[in-house]
Amino acid sequence: MASQTMTADILPENYRFLQQHIYSTVGIVLEANKHYLFESRLAPIVRQHGLASINDLCAFVKAGHHGEVAHQIAECMTTNETYFFRDPAQYDAIRSILLPRLREERKDAQKMRFWSAAASTGQEAYSLAMLLLEERLNDWNIEIFGTDFSSKVVERARSGTYQQIEVNRGLPANLLVRHFSRTGLNWQLSEAVRRMVRFETFDLRKSMRALGPFDLVFCRNVMIYFDNETKLKIMKELHGTLFRGGWLLLGGAESVMGLDEWFDRQTMGNMAIYVAR
Ligand SMILES: C[S@@+](CC[C@H](N)C(=O)[O-])C[C@H]1O[C@@H](n2cnc3c(N)ncnc32)[C@H](O)[C@@H]1O
Repeated sequence: MASQTMTADILPENYRFLQQHIYSTVGIVLEANKHYLFESRLAPIVRQHGLASINDLCAFVKAGHHGEVAHQIAECMTTNETYFFRDPAQYDAIRSILLPRLREERKDAQKMRFWSAAASTGQEAYSLAMLLLEERLNDWNIEIFGTDFSSKVVERARSGTYQQIEVNRGLPANLLVRHFSRTGLNWQLSEAVRRMVRFETFDLRKSMRALGPFDLVFCRNVMIYFDNETKLKIMKELHGTLFRGGWLLLGGAESVMGLDEWFDRQTMGNMAIYVAR
């Protein structure tokens, strides 16, 4: 019940401090009713630093000289939910529409570049890598770049190691057998898949000028945490990273209405593809 005490105890000025800190550090907007979220995410940091409450944690950070803790607070407020082949219709569209076109357009250069722009623990980027291998593109020069704000999830993505519960989500059994091997209780992705993907930390609010050009960018299930100003800036920057005709795929439930002027929005069933103009 100590946690309940902590929740009830967040002082209004500290609540505002946390909202502002998280917004300025990672861009995530947290409404006024997210006490439970602060409580559950910040309690481990409070304990780790031998503090008594979230208010003490705020005082600790406000006193300065604790940049790492401040970053840790922002990082732990990211939601890293992901799984293999999330939104399968998008992978089907890549397989049946985008790849045949790129095979034709790039038959001389034999090169394709992809970006998983909020990659979390890597399932999105690795799903794409497995799909490309299944499509027998292994002789092509394929680059998949995976990035995330959180260095914690980037480290996990790099390891290519997944728990049973993670491979149970979305990964077809034949791909598990073909591309993973057992290591103790976990599953390790093959070198062949891992070497196709490179993971780095990257904050989506930064300039993307040095990135790209890409044939496809996944930016899925992350815009929902941002305000319209941030979304607009990111949409414009993402456009700058794409080849003309390149695809931007957002999360299935995401809307960027009025913020997508650099793209042609094409719908296929329930799915939207943002094609760079
Ligand atoms: C819900 S996950 C989505 C993972 C994957 N794209 C998917 O759809 O399955 C959202 C990810 O966005 C990342 N994120 C949040 N704010 C970010 C920012 N400002 N820059 C880059 N990544 C950010 C989080 O760390 C988190 O891993």
